[in-house]
Amino acid sequence: MKRFIICFFLFILCSCNRNEIYIKQNLSMDNDVYERITYPVTPYKELNRYIDELILSITNKYHDTFQSDTVYELQITFDYYEQETTLSFLGTSYFKSTNNEETNYYPFTYDYLNKTFKTLQDIGLNNNYDYYFNGTNIYYVENNELQVIPYTNEVSKTTSKVIALTFDDGPNRRITPKILDLLDEYNIKATFFLIGKQIDENQEIVERMLASGHQIGNHTFTHHNILKLSDDEILAELRKTDEALSKLNYTPTIFRPPYGSYTKECVSDISKTVITWDLDSRDWELLDANKVYKKVMSEVKNNDIILMHDMYESTYEAVKRLIPDLLEAGYEFVTVEELLEIRE
Ligand code: NI
Repeated sequence: MKRFIICFFLFILCSCNRNEIYIKQNLSMDNDVYERITYPVTPYKELNRYIDELILSITNKYHDTFQSDTVYELQITFDYYEQETTLSFLGTSYFKSTNNEETNYYPFTYDYLNKTFKTLQDIGLNNNYDYYFNGTNIYYVENNELQVIPYTNEVSKTTSKVIALTFDDGPNRRITPKILDLLDEYNIKATFFLIGKQIDENQEIVERMLASGHQIGNHTFTHHNILKLSDDEILAELRKTDEALSKLNYTPTIFRPPYGSYTKECVSDISKTVITWDLDSRDWELLDANKVYKKVMSEVKNNDIILMHDMYESTYEAVKRLIPDLLEAGYEFVTVEELLEIRE
C-alpha cells in the first residue's frame, strides 16, 4: 500500500533536570496510521540503548501483528522519576486499531552509579508509601524505584479516602454527556439519581451511564415532594421510574427523595435504600463553578456522599476542576453502592 509518512522530530530541553534529559518525539501519520513516540534521551548510553530497544520491541509487536493497511493508533510515552542515583521510568504504550485497544506498562529503573537496570515485577502495595493516583494506575516509589499498579476497587477500599459523587435530576441532554465525558476521562464511577419522566427521551444517555459502570438511583418520576403525596402516589412515582429503567434491563436499588424530604413512615413501603447526602454542593443555588468548587474542597471528608446536579454548566465546570484536585488530595471515587459496602 502506498503511503506518505510525515515525521516530526521535536527536541525539548528539560532544564530543570541536572542530568540534562531531553524529550524527543517521533510522529508518523497518514490516513490510516497515527504513531506518536515520546521518549527521553539521557546522558547515559546504556540507558538510551535500553529505551531504544524497548520502543523497537513495542513497535515491532504491533507492526508484526497488524497488517500495514490496518487503521491504527500507537502512542508510547515515558514518565520518569529521579531519586538519588536512580532514574525510574514508566513506559506506557497505548494501541488502538479497528479491532483492538490496549494499554501496556513497562516500568524499569536504571542506577547510573552502578550502571544496573531493574525491571519491576510482582508488585505489591504497602500502606506505608505515599502514592500518586491518576485514575487508572497507582504510582509510588519504593527502594528508589517507581512502582505502578493498575487501579482496582480492592486497592481503593483498603488504602484511601473514598467519596461518592452523586448527580440528581438528570438525565439532561446538554450537561449529562459532558459530565460522563469527564468521568470517562478519569475512569471514575459516579451515581446518578434520575427523574423517571426524562428517561425515555434520553435512553442513549442512560445506556452510556450503565455501559461505563455508573450506578443509577430512583429520584421519582415527576420530582414531587413526596411529603405532599399519598402512599399510593409515592409508590406510583417509584414504580414508573423503575419501569422506564427496566426497558434498559436495570433495576435501581437506591432511592433519593426529591429535596431530601421524607419521613420514615412515608418510605416504609419502599423496598429501596433511601440515600440522601453528607455534603450539599449547593450548586443549584450558587450557579458559580468557583464557589461550588470552593465549597466542596473546603468541606469534603472521607466517606462523603456529595450532592450535585447534572443540569448546570457551572456544575460541569466545577466538577472539571474538582476531580483532579480531589484525586490529588488522595480521594478515590466510588459509587454509592460501593461506599455503603465500605462503611459497613
Ligand atoms: Ni432533585
